[in-house]
Amino acid sequence: MAAVPFERVDADAPKLAPANAILTVDDIVKRFETPDGVLTAIDHVSLSVAPGEFVGVIGPSGCGKSTLFNVIGGLLDGYDGTVKVAGERLRGPHPAIGMIFQEESTFPWRNVLDNVAFPLEIAGLPRAERYDRARHFVKLVGLDGFERRYPAELSGGMRQRVSMARTLAAQPKILLMDEPFAALDEQTRLLLGDKVLQIQQQLKQTTLLITHNITEAVQLSDRIVVMTYRPGKVKRMVEIKLPRPRSSEIVSSEAFGRYVAQIWSDLREEASRGLDDEESRKLHEGEKQ
Ligand SMILES: Nc1ncnc2c1ncn2[C@@H]1O[C@H](COP(=O)(O)OP(=O)(O)OP(=O)(O)O)[C@@H](O)[C@H]1O
Ligand SMILES: [Mg+2]
Repeated sequence: MAAVPFERVDADAPKLAPANAILTVDDIVKRFETPDGVLTAIDHVSLSVAPGEFVGVIGPSGCGKSTLFNVIGGLLDGYDGTVKVAGERLRGPHPAIGMIFQEESTFPWRNVLDNVAFPLEIAGLPRAERYDRARHFVKLVGLDGFERRYPAELSGGMRQRVSMARTLAAQPKILLMDEPFAALDEQTRLLLGDKVLQIQQQLKQTTLLITHNITEAVQLSDRIVVMTYRPGKVKRMVEIKLPRPRSSEIVSSEAFGRYVAQIWSDLREEASRGLDDEESRKLHEGEKQ
């Protein structure tokens, strides 16, 4: 057998379950009723996350990543298995969990500042304090000067940054980010990625990040969960044992390259299963016509 250059761990290896887990996802199965029958979106997914841990989630399109986040975020019910936050079973959205969605999710009737201040209003923060904090986060995502603008007056990437600022301003203990940078240009993505990481490290936020970008996942994560093509299972968990803080120089190191190659080879297998599946579906549809 070839030497394993870094730790590869089987998905169900028990030693990965930290005793003090802040988030425990236990044997989740989520199915959807569709016109073509029942679709299993996630299939027996288990995951334990330690306080302050940064977990990257990577997998082919349609493998159930967003569904998994929606279950953890308490936005979906009707699933098998349990989700626990600090040992307490989840029954709907939990105040410790903040989500940044794949699509921007601003309130169109509120201006930028009022969007960002909204969760702080719900949390009962005094007015002056919530606007101070909202202004800070609006600036952090590079939108100072746009405080009084409404979402319809902004670009898609700017609206995504408003959603991001709104979630970050609430300073959740557990942060779920579903491809938060996908709509942004490369420069903004890098700058904002750095800032989000800084906040995450400062506040020791437990973070789960869905991304399609392997380099980004390796650079940011303590552990990466690689998911299979439909139905979404955990294919592999890879611990990223690179020193922190991780500057951009680390990307060119040999160890970094090995992680990227391993994850890419796992992903390529799954992505090609996905493509084959699509091809054969189209073929069958063609035959039926
Ligand atoms: N509300 C729903 N009703 C029916 N099917 C759904 C629903 N939500 C998701 N699905 C299906 O579940 C599967 C997983 O979807 P999901 O959005 O979780 O994938 P994903 O991994 O986030 O993909 P992407 O990387 O493209 O965002 C897909 O086949 C999708 O069509
Ligand atoms: Mg998704």
